[in-house]
Amino acid sequence: MQMLIGQVLSFDGDPFAEGPGAARIDSRGGVLIDAGRIVATGPADALRAAYPQAPVTDHGRALISAGFIDAHAHFPQTAIIASWGKRLIDWLNTYTFPEEARFADPAYAAAIAARYFDLTLSNGTTTVCSFATIHPASVTAFFEQAQMRGLRALTGKTCMDRNAPDNLRDTAQSAYDDSAQLLAKWHGVDRLSYVITPRFSPTSTPDQLSALGALWQANPGCLMQTHLSEQTDEIAWVRGLYPDARDYLDTYEAHGLLGHGGLYGHAIHLEPRERDRLCEVDASLIHCPTSNTFIGSGLFDMAGLKAAGHRIGLATDTGGGSSFSMLRTMAAAYEVSQLRGTALHPSQLWWLATQGSARSLLLDDRIGNIAQGMEADLVVIDLGSTPAIAQAITRADTIWDALFPTIMMGDDRAIAATYVAGRRV
Ligand code: GUN
Ligand code: ZN
Repeated sequence: MQMLIGQVLSFDGDPFAEGPGAARIDSRGGVLIDAGRIVATGPADALRAAYPQAPVTDHGRALISAGFIDAHAHFPQTAIIASWGKRLIDWLNTYTFPEEARFADPAYAAAIAARYFDLTLSNGTTTVCSFATIHPASVTAFFEQAQMRGLRALTGKTCMDRNAPDNLRDTAQSAYDDSAQLLAKWHGVDRLSYVITPRFSPTSTPDQLSALGALWQANPGCLMQTHLSEQTDEIAWVRGLYPDARDYLDTYEAHGLLGHGGLYGHAIHLEPRERDRLCEVDASLIHCPTSNTFIGSGLFDMAGLKAAGHRIGLATDTGGGSSFSMLRTMAAAYEVSQLRGTALHPSQLWWLATQGSARSLLLDDRIGNIAQGMEADLVVIDLGSTPAIAQAITRADTIWDALFPTIMMGDDRAIAATYVAGRRV
């Protein structure tokens, strides 16, 4: 048993629906942890009096929050992050596919997975839902490294059987068999979840999409992740490849790949029918703002989609995204929404990076909040981590005034501590 003390930020509801009052802030709060879970929260003094035997780590004025949850990333793209000058299809062919081909070597896959978790943990990210490569060993590498660190983590073998280099293609049958085998081996082991992962419609044949749709139907407890309507050139390509489809989403829907627990990365240029269907089935849209500006994809309609009731998570999309930091990702989400005429409140940005992402992964009963019974994955934020941030908050009246400069200008220097299942890492 142990107790952390600091400014504790948690959520009673969704600030998009209820405003900033959905957040609960205890300026001198405590979090009591036992066996990897949060067993009590409340004012620090009362908690100390009730549990005098618990050793205390006092983080002073620092903010204690649920750890960040990155709902869409590509750990194999760690080494090619911030590669210059391409849009999506060229970027995939020039940078991504050659790098992903290197994951045929399991030793390389293990080295990058280790480097990736070092980077995400130092940025306060405690759960990632990542794409792997087509190589089953890349899934093994990711899960072994996550397991070693005690992390809740999700990934799946990326399936592609066309429009990719020869050495990065599987088949409909091998994609099904390899995915099924990995799922059986890893799904539900420790804190790990297998995610069925067709890369996107252009790199799968209809047969492969159908095979993975059948696998999902046979394993409804699994999530399914893919990409949707990221760039206009991509959408035109999909129309050419699937002439019978009503729209991009229909290429998934027609093959059993639309549903609750489906994670659709980007989802920028949606038709009205697509928006309606995604909402109707309660699918998850994953907003990847640093990627969408970096690759030049477009401006996600956060305000409109949240108002319509969509389930939305936030993500880096590393390495199409240009950062490992969910702080930087919140800043980009703010900037993108500003360009669409809406200023997201800091409580909304923070909720997206924790609760919102947890909800998008259907894991909000376990992670993404500070409450009794939740897993103790936590981040401790130094609210004055650089001279620029420290001078900006000297006149802050509210916690939101004090937090927003860290959202906009913060990086891994703002992460004072990260706890995984109660263990400081
Ligand atoms: N669409 C298909 N594959 C990818 C990828 O690796 N990154 C991004 N941003 N979009 C994709
Ligand atoms: Zn992606």
